[in-house]
Amino acid sequence: MTVPEKLLFVCVNERAPDAKESCGGHHGSGEFLRALKDGVKRRGLKPRVRVTHTGCLGVCHGGPHAYLAPEGRWFHAWGAEDVDSILDALEA
Ligand code: FES
Repeated sequence: MTVPEKLLFVCVNERAPDAKESCGGHHGSGEFLRALKDGVKRRGLKPRVRVTHTGCLGVCHGGPHAYLAPEGRWFHAWGAEDVDSILDALEA
């Protein structure tokens, strides 16, 4: 078993439309999660890097949000146009 050196946790929490803001649903974190997973595979970063979904990371407003460990780096309000730059960060 290979233990990943980097883990990107992507919040996919989805709340009801009339509830507090969340990363899932219309913020599209599920689509971005798939794009990031595809990118990690395409760039040959597995198994050194792993992208995984998670529940609420506690920052909610203005999402989607993701957290990179062990660097402790946050990605806020990112979108499809940011996928390549996030992949660059995972590759570094
Ligand atoms: S819903 Fe994504 S950080 Fe809370």
